[in-house]
Amino acid sequence: MPRLAVLGYPVGHSRSPAMHGAALAELGLGEEWSYEAIEVTPDAFEARVRAMPGEGFAGANVTVPHKGAALSLADELSETAREIGAANTLVFAGGEGGEAEEVVVRAENTDAEGFLRSLPGSPSGRRALVLGAGGAARAIVWALLREGAGVEVWNRTELRSRHLSEELGGETVGEPDQSAYELIVNTTAVGLGGEDPFAELPLAAEGFAASQTVVDMVYGGEPTALLRAAAAAGATTVDGIEILVQQGALSLETWTGRPAPLETMRAAARG
Ligand code: ATR
Repeated sequence: MPRLAVLGYPVGHSRSPAMHGAALAELGLGEEWSYEAIEVTPDAFEARVRAMPGEGFAGANVTVPHKGAALSLADELSETAREIGAANTLVFAGGEGGEAEEVVVRAENTDAEGFLRSLPGSPSGRRALVLGAGGAARAIVWALLREGAGVEVWNRTELRSRHLSEELGGETVGEPDQSAYELIVNTTAVGLGGEDPFAELPLAAEGFAASQTVVDMVYGGEPTALLRAAAAAGATTVDGIEILVQQGALSLETWTGRPAPLETMRAAARG
């Protein structure tokens, strides 16, 4: 009976258990596999992960604030996870029913590929603005650069965007011209707590154009103020739920070896 989980702190708001539970049921694996939410503090994270293979876990998703720690503790890293510097997926391989030390913990990152799959088209050759310089921004910048987009990074604390650009590539921008980009991606937490994106970010509600694609990684029950303004201008919008679904689908395929049922996952994630 393989178990799966999402590890976070806090994790109560996560849509992953509902999404993966529905997917496992759709695949006919609902009786065999399970997926649960586990809240774990940063102090307890490594010990918790090390105990999981012995408790029947086949893998886990990792979310805020553990994506860096997941990378550090892993025995094996995918090249993507290593280059991004964060992991959102763990796979426990070998050591079935045996000693914990025989189990290899492999860290992967499906956030980057999941983001690319959520876009309506290839970002190759496009001019892109990424807002934010945290863990989420790293995966997005890495993915866009790999696809050959021109990437500019704005962050409230410019020192962080400078570090990100030095490490991954792209350029830091202090005062972005909103109309100049074909793709705008908000990776900051702005909007999560009800903040006004047009007060906190270098964007104007009236500044979007129909030719643009606007992505907001923040998700809730309703479209965010950012996406509402973009949609009103006729822009193509992508929300955080679609990215959650796409990264989750890639993780599920890694664990089960089965194609993920995207529509079922989307419906469950949207609640
Ligand atoms: P994550 O891993 O989700 O990216 P993070 O590393 O804590 O989380 O990064 C949060 C991002 O949101 C940062 O880019 C942060 O900007 P700072 O580096 O200046 O802190 C950004 N952020 C959070 N609140 C913000 C606000 N009110 N205005 C602008 N940016 C904000």
